[in-house]
Amino acid sequence: MLILTCPSKLQLLEGVLRKSLPQALPVYGTVMHINRGNPAQHEVVVDSWPEFKAVLTRPCKEVVKDTWDYYANLHATFYRDVDACRAMLENAEAIDWSKAFQLQGIQDGMYEVARDIAKARHVHLKPYLYQTALHPGPPASCPSWLKSDSFHIGTLIPSHATVLNEVWEFGGNNRSLCYLEMLVCYFPNACLMDKEGQLVSWSLSDPFACLSHGYTFPQYRGQGCMGAVLQSISKKMHASGFPLYCGVLPENRSSKQALKHQGFHILPGTYYMLIVTPALDLKK
Ligand SMILES: CC(C)(COP(=O)(O)OP(=O)(O)OC[C@H]1O[C@@H](n2cnc3c(N)ncnc32)[C@H](O)[C@@H]1OP(=O)(O)O)[C@@H](O)C(=O)NCCC(=O)NCCS
Repeated sequence: MLILTCPSKLQLLEGVLRKSLPQALPVYGTVMHINRGNPAQHEVVVDSWPEFKAVLTRPCKEVVKDTWDYYANLHATFYRDVDACRAMLENAEAIDWSKAFQLQGIQDGMYEVARDIAKARHVHLKPYLYQTALHPGPPASCPSWLKSDSFHIGTLIPSHATVLNEVWEFGGNNRSLCYLEMLVCYFPNACLMDKEGQLVSWSLSDPFACLSHGYTFPQYRGQGCMGAVLQSISKKMHASGFPLYCGVLPENRSSKQALKHQGFHILPGTYYMLIVTPALDLKK
């Protein structure tokens, strides 16, 4: 196992991972961010080089000091050989299972491996099973479906994180607030505001370069707000060369409709978000 720090190797890895899309999406997005300034201070671990069989991205050691902070402790994995993935995830040098963390990936084997390890280590693993929505090409400028002309597109600022934290289903605590502030500061986002500058709808992106935290206040839903926000953030992401993708719950019809209207395709298979915690109560 080795940590890839050499910029030319990381560039090479980005190119190799591009050929393994969509399965490599969260790892590919993280490596892209690492190669473009590394705002979340992540690093890449491979089982071997250059012929790697498993890749893991994770925050650099000094970044997440809080044992319970699974928001910031983000990991993603991609493998060509499931045994190599198992060896990687079992390796205490690669993942510290005594801390809360998140593991994302689009391959069934990584979930099965992580579930087995969590069981053997007696730690709690909660799987969230999403579908992957991926845009096949440059975002098209669809005519705006927005029913009101009293809204305008903008960019979030860190003080908005308080509102985002109140409505986020995984939010409502200080760790989630810090995480949202970090996303707003360092990663592309877009929002829609009313005439008074109050938030109506927004979408963020995260260290995996995954679109996330899409939200429209209930009174504004079904008017094309998310469509307008998606168009704006998609243009920003595409302009920097990022893939356009996100995870969506299979039963979230509104979200899937809004995405499909913007040209996203729902892929077969599962986008796994696994939350591993040594104990259950993270709100303290
Ligand atoms: C999902 C959510 C963000 C959608 O926001 P929204 O502003 O209502 O989205 P839009 O109005 O742009 O699109 C949704 C609806 O408009 C319709 N629509 C969008 N673009 C359209 C178009 N060009 N033509 C016709 N209809 C369109 C969609 O069919 C959809 O209708 P439905 O809700 O009846 O299925 C919102 O419901 C929400 O905040 N939900 C809670 C949080 C959440 O689930 N977030 C998503 C996480 S992946």
